Amino acid sequence: MKTAPITPATIAFDAEGVPHAPAFGDRYHSRAGALAQAEHVFLRGNGLPQRWRGRPRFVILETGFGLGLSFLATWAAWQRDPARCDRLHYVAVEKHPPTRADLARVHAAVLDEPGALGAADGAPAGVSAVASAEVPQLAARLRAAWPPLTGDLHRLAFDHGRVELLLAFGDAAAWLRRMQLQADAIYLDGFAPEHNAEMWSDAVFAALPALSAPDATAATWSVARTVRDGLAQHGFAVERAPGFAAKREMTVARFAPRHRPALHARRQSALPAARDAIVIGAGLAGAAAAQALVEQGLAVVVLEGGTAAATGASGNAAGLVRGLMSRDDGAHARWHRAAALEAQRQIAPSISAGLVPGRLEGVLHLADDVAEMRRRIAGAAWPADYVQALDAEAAAAASGVKVVGAAWCFPGGGWVDPAALVRHTLAVSGAELRTACRVARLQRRGARWIACDEHGRPWAEADLVVLANAADAARLAPAVEPVAGQAGGWKIARSRGQVTRLPASLVAAPAPLLPLARNGYIIPMPDGSLLCGATQTVDDDEPALREADHAHNLAVLARLTGSALSPTALGSLAGRVGWRCHTDDRLPLVGALPAGADTIDAGVSRLAQPRHVPREPGLFALTALGSRGITSAALGGRVLAAWICGTPLPVDTDLLDAVDAGRYRARAARVHGRG
Ligand SMILES: Cc1cc2nc3c(=O)[nH]c(=O)nc-3n(C[C@H](O)[C@H](O)[C@H](O)COP(=O)(O)OP(=O)(O)OC[C@H]3O[C@@H](n4cnc5c(N)ncnc54)[C@H](O)[C@@H]3O)c2cc1C
Ligand SMILES: C[S@@+](CC[C@H](N)C(=O)[O-])C[C@H]1O[C@@H](n2cnc3c(N)ncnc32)[C@H](O)[C@@H]1O
Repeated sequence: MKTAPITPATIAFDAEGVPHAPAFGDRYHSRAGALAQAEHVFLRGNGLPQRWRGRPRFVILETGFGLGLSFLATWAAWQRDPARCDRLHYVAVEKHPPTRADLARVHAAVLDEPGALGAADGAPAGVSAVASAEVPQLAARLRAAWPPLTGDLHRLAFDHGRVELLLAFGDAAAWLRRMQLQADAIYLDGFAPEHNAEMWSDAVFAALPALSAPDATAATWSVARTVRDGLAQHGFAVERAPGFAAKREMTVARFAPRHRPALHARRQSALPAARDAIVIGAGLAGAAAAQALVEQGLAVVVLEGGTAAATGASGNAAGLVRGLMSRDDGAHARWHRAAALEAQRQIAPSISAGLVPGRLEGVLHLADDVAEMRRRIAGAAWPADYVQALDAEAAAAASGVKVVGAAWCFPGGGWVDPAALVRHTLAVSGAELRTACRVARLQRRGARWIACDEHGRPWAEADLVVLANAADAARLAPAVEPVAGQAGGWKIARSRGQVTRLPASLVAAPAPLLPLARNGYIIPMPDGSLLCGATQTVDDDEPALREADHAHNLAVLARLTGSALSPTALGSLAGRVGWRCHTDDRLPLVGALPAGADTIDAGVSRLAQPRHVPREPGLFALTALGSRGITSAALGGRVLAAWICGTPLPVDTDLLDAVDAGRYRARAARVHGRG
């Protein structure tokens, strides 16, 4: 599915100073106060805060995020409640998100004015669950985390990951049918139905049953017939309740469907009650998986075969983090854009705090035709804080290198030291790292998994195992190892890569100010050296540095910067060799492994869809991160943890299909069906 271009909101103020959308001819909230309205209609209308009390997780779905005021009221109420749920997941859809500047302008008017936080005349009295004095600070934190306005699902985390906000930018009906979550409470908040029919369309209501937990509730300030009928026709028991301020009534509803559709095999593989996990492999994948699982409340042991973390592909001194431009905006481009934005959000604080070496101040990907690049940016409405098209002059100014030509600039991208990132992530995650623990095989005992050494002695046991051990994952999971005659195996290849570290003394001035990339890359390092890379050779197990590969990397340097180096220096150059592990579609393998041997029988056409592929209980993977693991690991870890814990998925279901560790089984079933 193609990403819809995003048109940001146009926000004015009406005569009473209430934010107003001229395009819809309606206001964003009641004139009696946004926070008081949110508390009355959405929190109390859904039985909050009482309903989240004592629960490990609570999921709220909102249609129409707008200015984020209902989110802020909910977050404040959660913070104030000593009996709050451990984790709050708030998922919201918004077709016209405000720019960060507009959000600041409107928040200043709505939240920072004296008296703005209290309910105005006509608002019901009562003890407020919303810590309204704190809302302006929460609003500032929301704005600081505000993502580029791309039509993706953006994941923002607050309060040490205990509050997760998933923001889907685009049309509600289009997003809701591609989301995977089970909402405990639903806030229905478009503009008034007579001004905003598509927000209250049957397509929106029809999507709700699949997104509702068994005891879900919904609330809205509207009592329009379309709203009540829409809810009633899709399994909700609808009632009227006293409305907010001047509104006599509002609508509250409880999910009470006649039939509950069975969960498909992929969702059945979730283990929401799991207490502990073994992660095999302490590279970028293992660290990201461990961190995300610990944040979901699991106890995690990471078993690493080497004597330290990040001794495999993740051990280079630097690598790039960046998005990707492609004409078709297919799964590959969408995954890497979403992954880059997530990685940047996760990595930036550690870099700013000086805990991980790196710099996220822009990457230039060289290109040819700036007019065509600008047409593509305009056509897709890509925001300037995600990507820009620079002409040769602007690219030269940004990079300090005259010869670069036109370039895509990813302003939030940059470079990071992946090994330091792995060590730091593991150190702060709360996971236990055990090195020199090579897992030779896995055993199942009842509902538990045991990871054993080569003598069959247990290293550790847990409710689930995550294979984050690169290409070795296929060996530990025989059901996915491609065996002659067995369809549906993973198609993993290993490619050797060598990088070259050119010391400052050999760098012919001027060194680029920013990393440059195109069929290779140059990264300016803090000590004045350049990291140049990287070669790619398949079926190549040579661990020693090769002069020919240094020559290749220096040719990349010459091509990207115009700077040449005498070939006589090659033998003494430093560098590093590693092995990437990738699939034939260049997307990672994420999630529950397909079950048992070959389960493909004639007539099982449902298997052609990844979600129907049966899974091995408790066995998961995050691997095959290819040449973009620094970019992909963070999002991969989050998808994996959401899958395991049954929390809202941070990507849409089309993207999940594209990275699903069971997709090769589904592909084989499709081929089988055709044959
Ligand atoms: C030369 C080169 C340049 C690159 N440049 C970039 C770049 O610029 N940007 C980018 O995003 N990505 C880049 N990458 C890709 C990125 O480095 C990889 O995608 C990423 O490191 C893969 O991480 P991983 O955790 O899956 O694998 P690894 O880092 O290889 O980790 C797997 C770990 O599992 C352990 N293990 C294996 N088997 C077992 C077992 N049985 N028991 C216990 N432990 C086991 C291994 O010891 C290892 O530590 C580059 C890769 C290379 C090689
Ligand atoms: C009343 S405002 C929501 C206010 C918001 N809940 C808050 O707390 O600030 C309604 C929002 O719905 C959004 N909207 C309208 N049509 C939409 C659609 N089809 N899909 C998603 N969002 C839509 C509008 O852009 C607007 O921001």
